[in-house]
Amino acid sequence: MSKSMENDQLLMRRCFDLARLGKGKVHPNPMVGSVLLNGVEVIGEGWHKQYGHSHAEVNCLKSVTQENQRKIPVSTLFVSLEPCCFHGKTPACSDLIIQNNIKRLRISTTDKTPQVNGQGLDILKAEGVDIKTNILEKTGDWIVRFRTLFVTKKRPYIILKFAVSKDGFLGQPNKNIWLTNPISKRLVHKWRSEVGAIMVGTNTALTDNPKLDNRYFYGSSPLRIVPDRHQKIPANAALKDGAVPTWILGPAPKQPAAAEHLQYLQLPEGATFLPALFDRLATANINTLLVEGGAALLQGFIEAGYWDEARIFETDKVLGDGIAAPDLKGKIGAVEQIGSDRLVYWYNEEDGLE
Ligand SMILES: NC(=O)c1ccc[n+]([C@@H]2O[C@H](COP(=O)([O-])OP(=O)(O)OC[C@H]3O[C@@H](n4cnc5c(N)ncnc54)[C@H](OP(=O)(O)O)[C@@H]3O)[C@@H](O)[C@H]2O)c1
Ligand SMILES: [Zn+2]
Repeated sequence: MSKSMENDQLLMRRCFDLARLGKGKVHPNPMVGSVLLNGVEVIGEGWHKQYGHSHAEVNCLKSVTQENQRKIPVSTLFVSLEPCCFHGKTPACSDLIIQNNIKRLRISTTDKTPQVNGQGLDILKAEGVDIKTNILEKTGDWIVRFRTLFVTKKRPYIILKFAVSKDGFLGQPNKNIWLTNPISKRLVHKWRSEVGAIMVGTNTALTDNPKLDNRYFYGSSPLRIVPDRHQKIPANAALKDGAVPTWILGPAPKQPAAAEHLQYLQLPEGATFLPALFDRLATANINTLLVEGGAALLQGFIEAGYWDEARIFETDKVLGDGIAAPDLKGKIGAVEQIGSDRLVYWYNEEDGLE
């Protein structure tokens, strides 16, 4: 590998590290990081910190000191994702690059959002900007996978999460059984802070009475979703406490609890139930869904092919009998040992991600 390619990769890795600092704060936008290089000196760094706020490129240029401002036009801008080229919540970054007279741009991957998708690069090329793309693009694609899937498949990126006993059970009917250890529980709360919505099945709501918030971690709690076609979930259920925005998928009771944030949505039954839910999520601009069980709900997502990632805790508890864990076929990624729990990440091979 040439020295300049090696250098490009080093700086792109720095962009990735910066991008990841936005985890949990920027969705449904992608995480993006940026570095400004002058000769051998990094004179600016930035990342997209908060949804609706300035993009990585803007923050990178803002970070350049007064004395280094004059170096901007003779510097190279590295960005983990193609610069945006339309005025959304903030002005277009392609304009910012042109205004600052930046003549060299290095990116990892293109932004698959239909309004961008290579057009940001075309605009800059037409302005004479020297562009190199595909620098460590597999990692670049991976970092923005929630966003890419959302804009290309028009459904949220779906993460299935569950715990299994040593003998392959998810739980036992009508019994609130906790399988994972407290560290794993905290990790799950961190994941909740990184998604737009979280969902459980009716039986899980009845058996476990979960709050589904992220009280053991920082950041915002996702929208809670639970189907309740037959009005089984009682008014005093934790999911109806109004503490966090919640969608109950089913008919509203005659006298609905006066809880704020509680919304009843009547969706069609059968095969169009989940697509109808995805449409509602897209309208609400929610691009990630964490499905936390139980078995029937998870199996429904799996059978319809509506999953991208599964995070399965294999625990050391033995139940003897109970509700069998869902059957999943995919590619195993990382495996982590968290005390007594073994956490296995699975990926849906249909997505073509690595
Ligand atoms: N180990 C874990 O990680 C974990 C996680 C969660 C839950 N659990 C345990 O799992 C048990 C509950 O699991 P479960 O399989 O019995 O029930 P579940 O998946 O929680 O709920 C299934 C019910 O949800 C309703 N539903 C509505 N739309 C659905 C759809 N599209 N797909 C599937 N269900 C839909 C149906 O009830 P209606 O017919 O009334 O509409 C269905 O019977 C509990 O014991 C709980 O403690 C374990
Ligand atoms: Zn931008």
